[in-house]
Parts: sequence; C-alpha cells; structure tokens
Amino acid sequence: MSTALVILAAGKGTRMNSDLPKVLHPIAHAPMLEHALSAGRALTPERTIVVAGHGADYVRAMMAEIDEDAEIVVQEEQLGTAHAVAETRDALSDFDGDIVVLYGDTPFVSAETLQRMLAARQSADLVVLGFTATDPARYGRLLMDGNSLERIVEYKDATEAEREIDFCNSGLMAGNAAQMFALIDQVDSANASGEYYLTDLVELARADGLQVTAVSCDEAETLGINSRADLAEADRVFQQRKRADLMADGVTLMDPETVYLAFDTVIGRDTIIEPNVVFGPEVTVESGVFIRSFSHFEGCHISRGSKVGPYARLRPGAELAENTHIGNFVEIKNAEIAEGAKVNHLSYIGDASVGAETNIGAGTITCNYDGVMKHRTEIGARAFIGSNTMLVAPVRIGDEAMTATGAVVTKSVEDGALAIARAEQKNKPGRARKLMDMLRAKKARLSKGAE
Ligand code: UD1
Ligand code: MG
Repeated sequence: MSTALVILAAGKGTRMNSDLPKVLHPIAHAPMLEHALSAGRALTPERTIVVAGHGADYVRAMMAEIDEDAEIVVQEEQLGTAHAVAETRDALSDFDGDIVVLYGDTPFVSAETLQRMLAARQSADLVVLGFTATDPARYGRLLMDGNSLERIVEYKDATEAEREIDFCNSGLMAGNAAQMFALIDQVDSANASGEYYLTDLVELARADGLQVTAVSCDEAETLGINSRADLAEADRVFQQRKRADLMADGVTLMDPETVYLAFDTVIGRDTIIEPNVVFGPEVTVESGVFIRSFSHFEGCHISRGSKVGPYARLRPGAELAENTHIGNFVEIKNAEIAEGAKVNHLSYIGDASVGAETNIGAGTITCNYDGVMKHRTEIGARAFIGSNTMLVAPVRIGDEAMTATGAVVTKSVEDGALAIARAEQKNKPGRARKLMDMLRAKKARLSKGAE
C-alpha cells in the first residue's frame, strides 16, 4: 500500500512570540518539522505534502533543504484541521493509497508507532493515534467502545463526563485517501470553535458503516510545542533520548546531562566523551576517539583514535584523519589534518592542510584572511612548525621542513628547509642591572616630591 504523508503546519504558533513559523523552530539544530518528517520517512512515503500557512515562504525554503521532493500546499486561511487536509486534495488527485496525517508541531512520534498505525489499517478503515494523558487538559477525548473508536469530542464541545476521559487524541490519523476526502466533504463547522474538525471524520465514518479504531502510544511521543518553554522541554527530551541511544551504541558519556547533541550527530563505538561538550550540526566522530571537556564542534569529522580537547573548537570543514591530537584552545576551520598530526596548544588553523605526522607548535596561526579574501596554507608531512609561527597565506611549507620559533612566514619553504624569520637577538652585558637602578632612583625621586 502506498503512503502519502500530510503534515499540518499552517498554524501561527502565537505563543512562540516569533517572526519564524512555529514548525521551523529548531530542536537540537533541526527544525521541528524535520523531526516530524524523519519518523514519517520510515514509512517510505510515495508523497510528502506539507500544509503551510503562516510563514509559508519560509516553510517552502526550509523544506527545499530538508526534502526536495516534498510538496508545499498553502492553506491561506486556517479554518481547521479538516480544512487543512482538504487543501491537499488537488495535489493528491492521482494518489490512491493511504494518507497519514502528522502535525508539524508534534515532532517526537516514533517510526514504530506510525508502523503500528498502518498495521491497524489492515482491519480498520480509519486509525487514530491516541495516548493516555497524565493531564488531559484541552486535548480531544477518544470515546471508545471496546476496540472501536466511536467519536472524538473536542474539549470545548465536551460534557463534564466526557472531560473525565483521559484517553486523548494526538491528532495523527491514517486512512484511505479517497475515503478520507469523501468524509471531509461532509464535515461542517457547527461546533464551539466554528472550525472544520478533522476529528469529525470518526463519527462520519461510523455513520457510513466504516471501521474506526485507535492505536495507543506513549504520551512522550505526542509532546506538542506551543511555547518557547515547550520548545526547551522538547529539546531536553530529545537530548535524553539521543544520549541514551548513543550509550546503547557503545559511546561513553562520562556526564551525559552535560553533553549537548545535534539531531544528526553520529558517534562511533568506544568513543569517550568527557563532561561539557557541545555538538552543533553535521558532526561525525568515528570510534575510539577521546573528546575532552569544553570542546565545541560543528560541521566536522573526527577519525578513529584521535584525541581532541579540552577546549577545542572544530568549525565547518575541519577534517581530522586518524590518530590526530588537537589540544587546548585550538580552533580549526576548513582544514584537513592528516594522520598522526598534532596541533596541541593555542593555535588557529584555517583554510589549510596539515600533512601526516606534522607537529604544529604552540601559538601557530594561519593568517588566512587579508581583509578581503581568504587564502590557503599548505603544510607538508613530518614538518615541524615552531611555536608562535605566523603563516601568512597563501604559503606552502614543504615535507620535513621547519619554521623557527616566532617566524613570520611570508614565503613558501621548500621540502627539508628551515625558515628563520625574526629579528636577530643582541645581548648587552650589565645593561639590565643599570636600567633597574635608574628606574628605582626615578621612582624614589617621584615619591619624595609627592610628600
Ligand atoms: C487538535 C485536535 C485535538 C487533539 C490535538 C492534539 C482537531 C479538531 N483537534 O486540536 O483533538 O487532541 O490537536 O494536539 O483536530 N493546523 C493547520 N491548519 C488549520 C488548523 C490547524 O495546519 O486550519 C495545524 C496546526 O498548525 C497544528 C495542527 O494542525 O500543527 C493542530 O492544530 P491545533 O490548532 O493545534 O489543534 P488543537 O486545537 O490543538
Ligand atoms: Mg494544538
């Protein structure tokens, strides 16, 4: 059976108090819409349609990055969830499979739950996802009769007795496309909100003699986001899950609560992570890596056996080969560090390549930016860069070449050569003592004058 995901994302999200549409707010560096989509992808949908309204242009632009095959349908006026699904009718006119309705602001539904919904479709025409709520608050209530779902009543329209029910509607629903559109045609807006409720499909389906059932999931999967506080809570929930997943995959997190992960962070087995490490987007770490405290990563790759930190910053394009050592207060951007190379202290390596087994001394800086353009620094294999070397790019340091401490290197250095680029030292015998005596005498004169 082919599947179309219909993701409802037209709502304004007033309580986010933001210019950005709610569904684009990030959780662990990925828009919540992407989280919702990632579970949906497990169903290998033939079509993915996002119903956008508020901020539709932003949603369109973001979706082009997340999933270029997804289609955007604009719901100009938000007349209710049934109206939102109805808006996809033209886009799905040639589609005869199942529609699975997801919410863009309910990002944590699991792939396994969606699969159970589709499995339940074998014996029911319409399947609703429900959950038992600790605080049912304003959720729609599911009125069950055994396995069969009789009706969904919205909180606003519910009687006191119905409000006592704690089996609630997540909003997610699956059914045959043609059947759902036919039912949607019968939905009216005669209710407390004056909206076209998707939830009305249940009662209408039953009146047509169709089978309707509910599948139940863990409440945590239905966590919806309406405010910045909810967003922070969602991030916390995501972090907890991702940390648990990584630990199950064989990663040691010494103090899990203090490691911040991104949606797409990949970390290999037997990698050890000390407390207080932040992963931005697009970071992959291979196995057997040791990451020390207070390091910050984004858009980088760390290969097997490397040691990084404490206080290392790896920025986009930092590519560390196997067994590299990156130490404290080192920043690396758009640079390849080859196997076994060491950049251990207080350095900036940007727009560069560092050859295998090369040692970069403390305080080395690739001066990559001339104020207008960026230039590259190439350092060969087994080279030795003396402490406090300024490499003024574009420049090349050959294999097995050296730079003397404090060099300001403006010309390329050939293989095996030593570059010395600093003023020559002169020692003046006795001059230090003489100078000190002079200064002390001056200080004494000044303090006498002040009395
Ligand atoms: C809905 C359900 C309720 C359920 C709750 C779960 C209905 C009538 N009610 O209520 O039973 O317990 O979700 O969170 O379906 N949207 C559109 N276009 C619209 C209206 C809504 O795209 O015209 C989108 C929203 O952006 C949101 C989702 O649909 O992602 C749900 O809409 P919302 O207004 O939050 O519905 P609830 O009142 O929460
Ligand atoms: Mg809602």
